[in-house]
Amino acid sequence: MRILIAGNGGREHTLLWKLRRDAPDAVFYVTRPNGGMAGECTGVDIAPGDAGALSAWAAAERIDLAVIGPEGPLAAGVADRLEERGVPVFGPSAAAARIESSKAFAKDLMAGGGVPTAGYEVHADADRAAACIEAWGAPVVVKASGLAAGKGAVVCATVPEAVRTAREMLGGAFGEAGRRVVIEEFMEGEELSVFCIADGEDYVTLLPSQDHKRIGEGDTGPNTGGMGAYAPVGFVTAALMAEVEDAVVAPVLRALGEAGCPFRGLLYAGLMITDEGPKVVEFNCRFGDPETQAVLPLLTSSLLEPMMAVAGGGGLAAHEPVFADAAAVTTVLAASGYPGAYGRGAPVSIPKMGDGVHVFHAGTALEDGRLVTCGGRVLAVTAVAPDFVSACEASRGAAETIAFKGRYFRRDIGWREEERRSS
Ligand code: AMP
Ligand code: GLY
Repeated sequence: MRILIAGNGGREHTLLWKLRRDAPDAVFYVTRPNGGMAGECTGVDIAPGDAGALSAWAAAERIDLAVIGPEGPLAAGVADRLEERGVPVFGPSAAAARIESSKAFAKDLMAGGGVPTAGYEVHADADRAAACIEAWGAPVVVKASGLAAGKGAVVCATVPEAVRTAREMLGGAFGEAGRRVVIEEFMEGEELSVFCIADGEDYVTLLPSQDHKRIGEGDTGPNTGGMGAYAPVGFVTAALMAEVEDAVVAPVLRALGEAGCPFRGLLYAGLMITDEGPKVVEFNCRFGDPETQAVLPLLTSSLLEPMMAVAGGGGLAAHEPVFADAAAVTTVLAASGYPGAYGRGAPVSIPKMGDGVHVFHAGTALEDGRLVTCGGRVLAVTAVAPDFVSACEASRGAAETIAFKGRYFRRDIGWREEERRSS
């Protein structure tokens, strides 16, 4: 079997790690692998978003499964081009990927499908956006409608801040992504990330997890791509999951099908669990990063089989995922300065890790055989343990032993869960 993974972040390293366990005899190809992936695959020097070159290469190499990790290539139509050339692909079409690439599309789809989400207005005109904000009051959320690497949503505590943010976005601060802004009602509650594998008709859900989007401990400071995650999440009951599936997942997948763009791949529902029940913060058209690093190490059943079922047809019914009765905590190690400007090229030293500890690479590279930093989020350390507290301690302890200049990580990943358990 020949498997291609497009993308080279922490999420893709985790997908590579899991798929290699599922198919030890397969040959793995990765586009421009990072420093940790390099020794575990054959590198392909094509940008993951270069749809023409990647699909031609994959067809010529008779790839049996192409897994597209990041949203950019999906929004650019990489899955469409692969499919046209007869390459089985796990990842939605560009039309279905609009669920993430256009917040305005996603909001309209939710409104049409009756999916609970924050009230909103979409504006392309700064004065109209300002009038909407003034009428609603604060707190209020201002979002660039297009893709902005997780940094395009600003929760504003005051009306002047919200008006300023909307004017900046519409003034070009986010380029094309900010040509329209979504003004959204502020939702109060705890966030939850729910992954579903969908084949256009049917779906299965994976173990829900919780991300930590802010840079600072106690969830302070600017939003990042994600500084840590854990699973399972204590407050998630079977009844809550049934509500999430009935009110959110099933209706949005139906709405996508009815819009002529059935979703085949990984649908990520970012939820706020409010007093009125689950409401959608956003949808993503791919696995979350770093939630994947916490969820997949707990998955004891195959990931390859449901991915193949989606890529090749065949139905998901026989592929209900099975998870270990254990806990996973993932700590992201970032370069100081992230999510702003950060340095590169610092040598990285990773000691041998204990049982149940996995180091997934993101912003690393090999330079003359030496492992160095080359991104904002450098590594993710996941610890799997029988209980949550042990997993937390093992994840933080392992992060502490990894060295590179400017290393920064949050020592409070899972703090809400810790609070729940001690109350
Ligand atoms: P997004 O880019 O839409 O995922 O938003 C990034 C983060 O901003 C979310 O994970 C939330 O923490 C926060 N956020 C976004 N929208 C809302 C909202 N309507 N109410 C409260 N917090 C929000
Ligand atoms: N962890 C958030 C995301 O992947 O969008």
